[in-house]
Amino acid sequence: MQTVSRLITQFVPEHYQLSLNHDRIGRTFSGTVSINGSSPDSTGEIKVHAKDLTIESVTVDGKEADFNQGENDEISIIHPDIHAGRHIVAIGFSGTITDGMHGLYPCYYEHDGVKKELLATQFESHHAREVFPCIDEPEAKATFDVALTTEQDIVVLGNMPIKQQQIENDKLVTHFDTTPRMSVYLLAWVAGELHKKTAVTKQGVEVNVWATPAQPASSLDFALDSAVETIDFFNEYFGTPYPLPKSDHVALPDFSSGAMENWGLITYREVALLVDPETTSVSSKHYVAGVVAHELSHQWFGNLVTMKWWNNLWLNESFANLMEHLAPDALHPDWSVWLDFVTTESIYALRRDSLEGVQPVQTEVNHPDEISTLFDGAIVYAKGGRLMRMLQQYIGDEAFQKGLASYFAKYKYGNTTGDDLWNELSDASGENIGDFMNTWISQSGYPVVTVSQNGDMLTLSQQQFFVGPHEPSSKLWPIPLKASSTDVPQMLTTKEITVKHTSSEPLRLNVGSTAHFITQYDGDLLSQLIQQVENGELDVVDRLQLLHEQTLLARGGLVSTASLIPLLDAYKNETAEAVWDIISLAINELKKFVETDKDAERKLRSLSGTIARKQYNRLGWDAKENESETDTKMRATIIGMMIYSEDADVLATAKELYASKSLEELDAELRALIVGTAVRHGETSELVDTLIEKYGKTPSPDLQQDIASGLTSTKNEVTISKLLDLIKQGTIVRSQDATHWLVWLMRNRSGRAIAWQWLQDNWKWIEQTFSGDKSYDDFPRYAAGSLMTRNQLEEYKAFFSPMIDVPALTRVITIGIGEIEGRVQLIERDGPEVREALAKL
Ligand code: BES
Ligand code: ZN
Repeated sequence: MQTVSRLITQFVPEHYQLSLNHDRIGRTFSGTVSINGSSPDSTGEIKVHAKDLTIESVTVDGKEADFNQGENDEISIIHPDIHAGRHIVAIGFSGTITDGMHGLYPCYYEHDGVKKELLATQFESHHAREVFPCIDEPEAKATFDVALTTEQDIVVLGNMPIKQQQIENDKLVTHFDTTPRMSVYLLAWVAGELHKKTAVTKQGVEVNVWATPAQPASSLDFALDSAVETIDFFNEYFGTPYPLPKSDHVALPDFSSGAMENWGLITYREVALLVDPETTSVSSKHYVAGVVAHELSHQWFGNLVTMKWWNNLWLNESFANLMEHLAPDALHPDWSVWLDFVTTESIYALRRDSLEGVQPVQTEVNHPDEISTLFDGAIVYAKGGRLMRMLQQYIGDEAFQKGLASYFAKYKYGNTTGDDLWNELSDASGENIGDFMNTWISQSGYPVVTVSQNGDMLTLSQQQFFVGPHEPSSKLWPIPLKASSTDVPQMLTTKEITVKHTSSEPLRLNVGSTAHFITQYDGDLLSQLIQQVENGELDVVDRLQLLHEQTLLARGGLVSTASLIPLLDAYKNETAEAVWDIISLAINELKKFVETDKDAERKLRSLSGTIARKQYNRLGWDAKENESETDTKMRATIIGMMIYSEDADVLATAKELYASKSLEELDAELRALIVGTAVRHGETSELVDTLIEKYGKTPSPDLQQDIASGLTSTKNEVTISKLLDLIKQGTIVRSQDATHWLVWLMRNRSGRAIAWQWLQDNWKWIEQTFSGDKSYDDFPRYAAGSLMTRNQLEEYKAFFSPMIDVPALTRVITIGIGEIEGRVQLIERDGPEVREALAKL
């Protein structure tokens, strides 16, 4: 198997001088790069990364050198004078601009009926080599002088402010200030028509938010405010000032991931940056603030201090995940961000991390194509973020912050491993953090702690929690128990302990749900907690945690899924929005058991309506003046549950709203639900065509998202095939959105089989279009997320097993097979009992 070699071992760059000439119309670029660096040995050879570039000339220290294009995206430069010491390698090269959304690529948009383009870059994780020869490794930090030649009358943005800009031969030539010492994957530029809004931080850093002219200026304000207040916040929190003179934020019409933290020039997909006051929902606003905070935190974590190698990617992403919540929470305490964290990230992590074969947070990388699979949102982001939160809670925020400040002071402009961070945090807290955290980041999975009471003795024991088929595991973790009773020790480090417990107060573990484990309470302990829920005696987090952990235990076969039905009854008087998220999720959890039983399905639908009715009556369809944002968000959850119940009045109201208002006028919070109801309960081909047309025409990413969500909920097989065609055509549905459309269709019961067949029939196209992209493994992943019959399991195995050796897919296919198998077994095992319990309602 091909392994990743490190080119920095044979040439250490210090400074790059890069000039690049863009020919947008001709879809090519050409340039020169001169790299100042040093060779540790006298080998007569220097290797640099280059991919899909034509190398035109090479000199070393001004003397012409030989070169050949080797394997692993390397070119080998050969000259007898290459000895240990300093050298200047200068290379002339050219390449092509292609649509893959990495390297240097075009973004497409339309403004006032005219089709237009921007050019942008995306270099993480290893796409800089597609644009210029370089040592494309995070440890190879250097300074950069960049000069770009482009069309005239456009905006050209780089990592640094513009030093000089002039017209030469009818072209615009832009020189940027020299960057600080940085990794090449953080270099970036954008060129095209853009408009902006500007503000300044307390310390005088200029902040700009940019978008294409197709986007209204008012949609830039929210992100601008967020960015300014977040930089001010991190300046204090990290005890280290924002390191650059400016911070640009650009919304790009075509963008592969959500956002990218290029130093000083953060790029976003439009939906992740733009907030149109007219059309954006509260949850989307919070999402934008989170993305901005995430990418800004990288300006320190990742950019100022960078991981040595990709196996420590969590140093970037797990921390940014924590900060994406920590900063908005500090700035907007009323948003209850940590509750959102528990209902979204934590659940995402707990679900995926329960599957056999999932990667640990810290994972070795053996092949270049594996780098992209490290970015598993559930693991490196959600689980990693949760582990950092666990650590912060464990040592306290003061020690945490102190450790971070000394980490930045010590390692700024350098590279680190996890242990460097643990050492600073150990010093700051007086605890051995490495011992504690290394187990958590290097072991996949997490424990379930079982608590049982016998007289006044409590027994607590840990074992790895699994959903689906798995090998036996003897892993142990140091678990911060955070018990509600002082009889229970702070840490469980062994397999089992027994302690005396005399208090009559019901016992809870993991209070606040900040540690990465779940609890199985035995018999009376569980009944006592349920009683507390009914009496309204538990906090919000504890209420939702109990319900969610029971749904997981049911998935894992440790309790019966049917027990969720009476448990839901305990939540009938629930008032908190975050808990309603979980109630709705628990109903969702039951849907897969009733797909083949109409009567049971009817019962489940009516259960959903019965539970939600009270809140529905309270909230209604119209936002009240000055209502809390949580009520606004909750209305969508509740109405979603009512729509699922197929209550005739609710469906009629939704359809009436759809008929009487324009999409723009509909309540942003409810828009997707209303469109979905119009489609599911009143579809005509005219309706579908109108929505597709609107999707293609509107510049609003919010409207697009809601239309897509509504359309993909169709029950009509002809429409489903039509939508699948749209994905492939790529004109109306952009390739950045392809996986969203597909996953929505696969989650739709009527769409699942057709979309699954489509995925298999169109695999060649998927491979061609996405194999270089980080979303490639989403295809087998999303399929595994929704298939649920034995037949589909066999089809999945037959289809994907031959691809198991493709490095970008190996892990995801292995996990996928186990995931579907676990789901099939669960439905077989618990189905009869669930349906019986529903029948009794
Ligand atoms: N560094 C990533 C983006 C990235 C990941 C680029 C992998 C290329 C390869 C960025 O900081 C990030 O994490 N973006 C997230 C959004 C974020 C708010 C969770 C993303 O793109 O999903
Ligand atoms: Zn990130």
